[in-house]
Amino acid sequence: MEACSRFPKFKHLGSSVSFVLFLGILSAIGAAVCGYLLSLSGEYQGSTLDWHLWLGLGTILLAVAAWILKSRQIPKIYFSVLLGTVVCLSFTGHLGGNLTHGSDYLVKYMPNPMRKVVGLPPKVNDEGPVITNLEEAVIFDNVIKPITDAKCESCHNPEKTKGDLRLDSKEGFQKGGENGPVFTAGQPAESELIKRIKLPQDHDDVMPPEGKKPLSKEEIQLLEWWIENEASFDKKITEVKTSPEVQEILDALVNPPQKAVNPVFTMDIDAATEDDLQNLRKNGFSAAPIASDIPLLQVSYLNTSAPLSAQQLKVLSNHSDQIVWLNLSKVRLEEKLDYGFLKDFEHLTELHIDHTAITDEELKALKNMKWLEYINLYGTEVSDKGLANLHPLKHLKTAYLWQTNATPTGISTLQEKLPELQIHTEAPSLILVSADTTEEVTTKN
Ligand code: HEC
Repeated sequence: MEACSRFPKFKHLGSSVSFVLFLGILSAIGAAVCGYLLSLSGEYQGSTLDWHLWLGLGTILLAVAAWILKSRQIPKIYFSVLLGTVVCLSFTGHLGGNLTHGSDYLVKYMPNPMRKVVGLPPKVNDEGPVITNLEEAVIFDNVIKPITDAKCESCHNPEKTKGDLRLDSKEGFQKGGENGPVFTAGQPAESELIKRIKLPQDHDDVMPPEGKKPLSKEEIQLLEWWIENEASFDKKITEVKTSPEVQEILDALVNPPQKAVNPVFTMDIDAATEDDLQNLRKNGFSAAPIASDIPLLQVSYLNTSAPLSAQQLKVLSNHSDQIVWLNLSKVRLEEKLDYGFLKDFEHLTELHIDHTAITDEELKALKNMKWLEYINLYGTEVSDKGLANLHPLKHLKTAYLWQTNATPTGISTLQEKLPELQIHTEAPSLILVSADTTEEVTTKN
């Protein structure tokens, strides 16, 4: 109003400035008293609170000074003091915002183009946990903390400690809140934290409080699962029991899903040497590294007219650690030999054993292939009993079961155990993708 009144058109505003300034002083005093009382609750701490307090008091003093200078008609100093009041008020208000809404509230919801203008990096999606490698992920750091960071931390942090509870660190979880511990390891149902997040949305004690985005069903399940498994702060996901339901939720957190690298490819396995390759080739196998920078092998036996001998199987088994893709499609074995040798191939991710005489019993060898992603059993005698050996194979993505003795029941049980698994039970048909875009030939069921 003061600035506007300098223009002839708004000259009349000038006469109200003193009155408005006086109202401002009264409300500033009111706000300071309320703020001080709120600070006594102990829920707000730290240097932000201190600055907010002192700048708030400064605002009142400057405003009072401006008011006096205005009435004494000392325009020169008056104008600078009034400007100082505005600056001081802005900072105080901003810090108050930091205390109530979290220190990032000013830019948190800024759209990316605007962020660019003010020189901020593009927004990252901080909505809940994102895991890059399930095998390595630590439950608390990679699953639990991202959830509480997104949904709880804004009120339970060092500066704003609602309920005298901090959920921004391991120590905070362990210390608990004003009413003691917030969880009992092993007993989710007895844990205050779980009780609170499971309350109905309109309940007074629900966390996060009404109006804030509640936890999803999956997030609640994960927190319960964590507490059930000792609420450990350093255990990895792979070190505790997971129900299929929880496993499914965890799998969905892996991002980006298609890039999850099979751990077998990063394992410390002795590289295959040129001699190894020669040895395999001398024995009738075709063998090659799967990629120039990965010393693991793909091996096929293509000479389907001659059955494999004990000697050949021995050579193959010598390299069982290095072989990740094994193609024994249509292969026959010499008399008295069986597929039991497969049990040594613990690192396989891909196994073609279609059109062979492999039996249910021999499929037990699959139990050791925990990294297996692909199996082709097309045209074998395998039945439901043999299929049960696939159930624990968490990485399995594709299974060809056409022309086997598997029944619909056996197949649907397998699908239940491994919901992500693509099971092919029909004849593969050749589809030619239109020639002008690509000449690729794909097989599809
Ligand atoms: C908008 C602020 C806010 C958010 C977000 C929030 N809380 Fe709270 N929380 C409070 C307040 C206020 C209290 C104290 C009053 C009460 O006990 O209800 C509290 C108290 C608690 C308590 C009880 C502590 C004790 O010892 O009495 C627990 C447990 C709790 N919160 C857990 C959580 C969890 C878990 C989340 C995230 C899912 C969460 N809170 C998110 C504001 C919040």
